[in-house]
Amino acid sequence: MSISFTPNSGKDFTLLARVLLPLWLLCAASSAEALQLPAPEALEKDPALHRQSVEVVEPHSSTSERQVRITYVGVPVAVLLTRWFGDAWKAPGVEVEFLALDGYRSTVPASKLSSLPAFLATARADGAPFEPNNWEQKERVPLGPYYLIWDNLKVPELQRQGSSGWPYQVARIRLRQAGDDATLRPPEADAETLLGQADTAANCLTCHHLRGIGGEKYPEDLSTVLCRWTDADLQRWIEEPTRVRPGTSMPALNRVWPEVERQKVTGRILHYLNAVKHSAPSACAGVKR
Ligand code: HEC
Repeated sequence: MSISFTPNSGKDFTLLARVLLPLWLLCAASSAEALQLPAPEALEKDPALHRQSVEVVEPHSSTSERQVRITYVGVPVAVLLTRWFGDAWKAPGVEVEFLALDGYRSTVPASKLSSLPAFLATARADGAPFEPNNWEQKERVPLGPYYLIWDNLKVPELQRQGSSGWPYQVARIRLRQAGDDATLRPPEADAETLLGQADTAANCLTCHHLRGIGGEKYPEDLSTVLCRWTDADLQRWIEEPTRVRPGTSMPALNRVWPEVERQKVTGRILHYLNAVKHSAPSACAGVKR
């Protein structure tokens, strides 16, 4: 389709401005291509970007009993988002999706990124390899090209989020509108189910996808995975995966939380996943157990 507009084609222009343009913007926003991030070396050479040292409590290595602190070098994420997306990321209701090399996906409200001290780190300040210590998933995992970190010493409440807002190996970023998650809500969801949905999105859908929404680290949709699991097994699996499958690469639920909190969140996640399992049309029909 080609649309031409000449000075006397006022009607065409109205159509363009009132109907086609918003429609196009909507389509462009929902199927937005992710931005491939430049190599970190490009930032290091840029004198306009102030790289700074940020000491954090490393959530991938810390537990509620033991704090591991690491100092990283990074650039405030707000500065980089403005450089890469202009002001588009500051529009109301925008969420920023950080997409990792291995299919991990972390979604953070843009308002949180602009109001709290978040950085994209590209190195450790001590010159050690860009990896955290005491990695729970046992592999030695490089954090680059980019690692989203938060100054959780300056804002200690941030320590409670554990590692869920800390994606590493970030290679691409995409903006999206909040509220695209209506497909995740089971019909007639009660308050507990809605809380569980938020917990599941924050703690599980970084790696797994459910009804097509979420990360790609695990290939099968969680809605069909669930059909093979009883509540009791799933609870043990979420709290302590290695007790169910020694050597598994799935990490336990946020160990930064005290045990009581972990159990409470696990309970809400199970409650929500059950509602998904029993909502019609059931994904479990025809799934082998
Ligand atoms: C950091 C990534 C990550 C997160 C976060 C994560 N998982 Fe997993 N999950 C995995 C991986 C990787 C596997 C495959 C592990 C294996 O086969 O040993 C897996 C496997 C599973 C399985 C077993 C699938 C099967 O084989 O039947 C279930 C069930 C599951 N996850 C549920 C969850 C739930 C619920 C949450 C949130 C509380 C969660 N996962 C959070 C990465 C993750």
